Amino acid sequence: MSKICVIGTGYVGLVTGTCFADLGNDVMCLDVDETRISKLNQNIMPIYEPGLEQVVSANRKAGRLTFTTNFEEALEDADFAFIAVGTPSGVDGEADLQYVRSAAEAVADLVNHPIVVVNKSTVPVGTGDWVADIIKKRRAGKPLEFSVVSNPEFLREGSALNDFMKPDRVVLGSTNRDAANQVAQLYNTLRCPILITDLRTAEMIKYASNAFLATRISFINEIANICEELGADVTEVATGMGYDNRIGRAFLDAGLGWGGSCFPKDVKALAHMAVLHGTQPQLLQAVMDINRNQRRRIIFKLRKALGNLNEKVIGVLGLSFKPNTDDIREAPSLEIVHLLQNEGAVVKAYDPQAMENASAMMKNIVLCDNPYQVAEGADAIILATEWNEFRQIDFERLHKAMRQPIIMDGRNLWDPNQLKEMGFVYFGVGRGTHMTNNNHD
Ligand code: UDX
Repeated sequence: MSKICVIGTGYVGLVTGTCFADLGNDVMCLDVDETRISKLNQNIMPIYEPGLEQVVSANRKAGRLTFTTNFEEALEDADFAFIAVGTPSGVDGEADLQYVRSAAEAVADLVNHPIVVVNKSTVPVGTGDWVADIIKKRRAGKPLEFSVVSNPEFLREGSALNDFMKPDRVVLGSTNRDAANQVAQLYNTLRCPILITDLRTAEMIKYASNAFLATRISFINEIANICEELGADVTEVATGMGYDNRIGRAFLDAGLGWGGSCFPKDVKALAHMAVLHGTQPQLLQAVMDINRNQRRRIIFKLRKALGNLNEKVIGVLGLSFKPNTDDIREAPSLEIVHLLQNEGAVVKAYDPQAMENASAMMKNIVLCDNPYQVAEGADAIILATEWNEFRQIDFERLHKAMRQPIIMDGRNLWDPNQLKEMGFVYFGVGRGTHMTNNNHD
């Protein structure tokens, strides 16, 4: 059993702390936000993540997981200080490291025993060295025995607990092999490959992984747009490609593009780092451009179907950036709603989890209790997030409620043939034609 302090109770910090407690460690999670900590102490979760509330509750009861705003208490006797604070990106993509700096300073000011500082926040390559420098300088007169380890997270929202407990790999970067090995011990029971590298390489693995996944999505979206013009179906193209073991099927779902708290921030930050160091990130630039266009394309298609959008009623199903989360950061829905409203459309929307976040971020939007209310009087419906709840929708009821039965399936969730048979005008993403029985007539 190790004593772990986790600084930052955002997505990464809370999941990491909770899972380490569940693995039997003594974990104290710290945040400067008093309301957040007081809610966590009442078992009220600041985010929606399947299973999190139950695991937090069980580990609090077992006395392995506590929440505090007190740095001294959290760092006292801690073997490890995990830094899991936010690193918001500025307009040019540069990460804001002020919270990482504060965490490093707190360690320098308050710790007087050997400690391993583990960085979980996604930070520009070189930040690990910078953190070590901050601590060293602040302790100039009274050296502290410490090491910095980079341990990037690869958790997906919606399956974060499972991703933590069953990782594909754990990456640890450090100049001090012993420190990396100590962190490796924390993950040993998970029986997954553990890769130990130097600090900068570990930091780069995180950016390269996220940028690669975003690239796959932008690639398939570009293929989808070509499919649309040439009369092919991208869903089957992806399946056909995916059978090739060298390619694989994951992250080849065409749609409205990638969003969320990681991909947009990380791709932008990587491109920014490249430019800063004199390299032209041509591919990354294209990956971002395609993603932006993907949201606009659906509005072009809608305009084509409806003439102009002024005073048209458009329903949006799904607002979160992907299913099983209430997170709407960089969600395609944000831009789509904005573009629709700019063209004078009335927007109605429903999301199974993200209504509260949406009402804070989206102005003048009519929030509904269910998909059928959204459909009432709508000239078209856009499916923006592929929640399971939308798979089994009562299409007849939807059809009856709509003023015009136009469906823009932004996630290729529904069966075009079924919907067309029911009298809908169906548009998917990259589904130029949908031929059944190989009938070319
Ligand atoms: C991602 C990474 O997967 C994770 O490893 C990292 O730690 C954080 O960023 P997350 O943001 O939770 O996780 O979402 P993810 O499930 O990866 O999806 C990202 C975005 O890509 C979503 O907007 C999703 O809708 C989109 N996506 C995903 C597609 O458009 N097509 C796909 O085939 C897959």
